[in-house]
Amino acid sequence: MRAAAYAKVNLALAVYPRSVDGYHPLRGIFQSVSFADHVSVGPSSEDSVTVEGGEAPDDESNLAWKAIDAVRRSVRNPSPVALTIKKRIPMGAGLGGGSANAAAALGLMAARLGLEDDSVAELAESLGADVPFSFVGGTKLVEGRGERLSPYEPLGDFALGIVVPPFSLSTPAVFGEWDRLECPVGDVMDDRHLPPTLRGGHPIRNDLLPAAISLDPRVGEWRDEIAARWGTGVAMTGSGSALFAFFSTIDEAHSAVEGIDIPTRAAEAVEPVDVGWRQINGGSQDD
Ligand code: C5P
Repeated sequence: MRAAAYAKVNLALAVYPRSVDGYHPLRGIFQSVSFADHVSVGPSSEDSVTVEGGEAPDDESNLAWKAIDAVRRSVRNPSPVALTIKKRIPMGAGLGGGSANAAAALGLMAARLGLEDDSVAELAESLGADVPFSFVGGTKLVEGRGERLSPYEPLGDFALGIVVPPFSLSTPAVFGEWDRLECPVGDVMDDRHLPPTLRGGHPIRNDLLPAAISLDPRVGEWRDEIAARWGTGVAMTGSGSALFAFFSTIDEAHSAVEGIDIPTRAAEAVEPVDVGWRQINGGSQDD
């Protein structure tokens, strides 16, 4: 069984002071986008984890493997499984690639072994803050530490240009720096840089951006460089380091990313997608 596991972009991310569970309550608009890893799971003579084309761990510390193991334990079926992940989404980028891989593995295994929806939702939450969103995907208002999802009207009248600079950021380190800086608030993106459906609504800001810049000033330099080249506002997704801007059409986003001639970990033109992962049968490169 094979699935496309889509990256997410935090179009907006408000962060509130750390609670007793060690996590920061959030409120943000999360969007799945057409930039995907491929995850396959299948029966095997022994357990195995294979990662192609990326740096994700190829052992039991891989979050998608933890998802597989959690489903097996839950239904008390210890049959060996082979997991293969074809990586395109860079790690430590704020694009939720690891969570997307885990969500897809969870979904494939749940279908294969007949796990009920309530148990799947519980497992998703236990795997990581972004996994519940990645399991559902689309456009959602996300609250709590990431587990409370509500519908948000689909925003699909835009494309995004995404640039992933050649360095990664650690999510716990960025949240720690946000605490140290005493809870800064990100700048709100001006309406003229936003698609019509986002104008005058939920403030489009990322409170983790000041913390990411403080931790690694290259984030600010890259943001300014991309903003100057594209002539538009540039935002950061999650805890970084990936940066993005809005475009009216996918063609405009393509021309923008094609103009990025400096070394990056990825430069992609993407569109919103309405799921976090999707089972696939054929071999389309675009999935
Ligand atoms: O749940 P996940 O493993 O993705 O989170 C990684 C780390 O990011 C957590 O251990 C925590 O330090 C930080 N985090 C947070 N508040 C959130 C999400 C993540 O402090 N809402």
